[in-house]
Amino acid sequence: MKKVTKAVFPVAGLGSRFLPATKASPKEMMPIVDKPLIQYAVEEAVAAGVTDLVFITGRSKRAIEDHFDKAYELETELEVRGKTELLKIVRDTVPSHVNCIYIRQAEALGLGHAVLCAAPVVGDDPFAVLLADDLLDSQGETPVLKQMTDVYNYHRCSVLGVMNVAQEQTRQYGIVSTERDSGELQRVTGIVEKPKPEEAPSTQAVIGRYILTGRIFDHLRQLKPGAGGELQLTDAIASLLQEEAVLAYQFKGVRYDCGSKLGYLQATVELGLRHPEVGAEFAAFLASRQA
Ligand code: G1P
Repeated sequence: MKKVTKAVFPVAGLGSRFLPATKASPKEMMPIVDKPLIQYAVEEAVAAGVTDLVFITGRSKRAIEDHFDKAYELETELEVRGKTELLKIVRDTVPSHVNCIYIRQAEALGLGHAVLCAAPVVGDDPFAVLLADDLLDSQGETPVLKQMTDVYNYHRCSVLGVMNVAQEQTRQYGIVSTERDSGELQRVTGIVEKPKPEEAPSTQAVIGRYILTGRIFDHLRQLKPGAGGELQLTDAIASLLQEEAVLAYQFKGVRYDCGSKLGYLQATVELGLRHPEVGAEFAAFLASRQA
């Protein structure tokens, strides 16, 4: 029985919604309190049993490679100064049993193309895709990707993380139609990328967590440009579900859209309030502003 041990992180996007912050540094390196977005996604994957992290990178994304690499000078400096706690934080960005693999996506041709770039590493195995913009807070319960690998291990087919959104927001997401209108786990009958509200088959939106079988690569290879002129992962999934079962899973947790300024600020406030070092003082500060 094959387990999900590989995760793909498409990180080649421009991050234009956060300019000028993202002019020279990757949007995935923007911190929520003191950890970059990409590290939250990596920790979620590792907690689900993933041991191979495949980053699909692009120009000006070197900082991501450096972040998960050994920081030689910094570590030596911290060691000399006896800063053992900080040294541990710096060394623990990725556990020693986990491999980081980097593949360059030369052109930003869309999410489908980014995932296809991982084919030589993933092969026929089932794998996860995590979009670091979507920060999924399981609030101390089972991390969301682990919830999804549990579903995969039982049903042995592709699983999409979904949540309900307002009707007017369907144009921001891949939207699924399912056999029934509600329920935690449902079989997907159709999926469409960013439909207009009046054309959306439902309000169940795919968030940036996918478990896909290796068969998806054949469908990705046959893709034609879709919404926005890009090669869309959504379209390959639409084609995959003609051949195999695909499940939609309503995950347990809260999702922050850290690809938008508002979602980023919301995540910062929520995780700031819970932060062991500054949470209490931050709560007092927010309360004093409301008084
Ligand atoms: C991508 C996918 C979309 C999905 C969304 C989740 O869109 O194409 O299907 O619903 O991520 O965040 P993007 O937000 O990159 O435009």
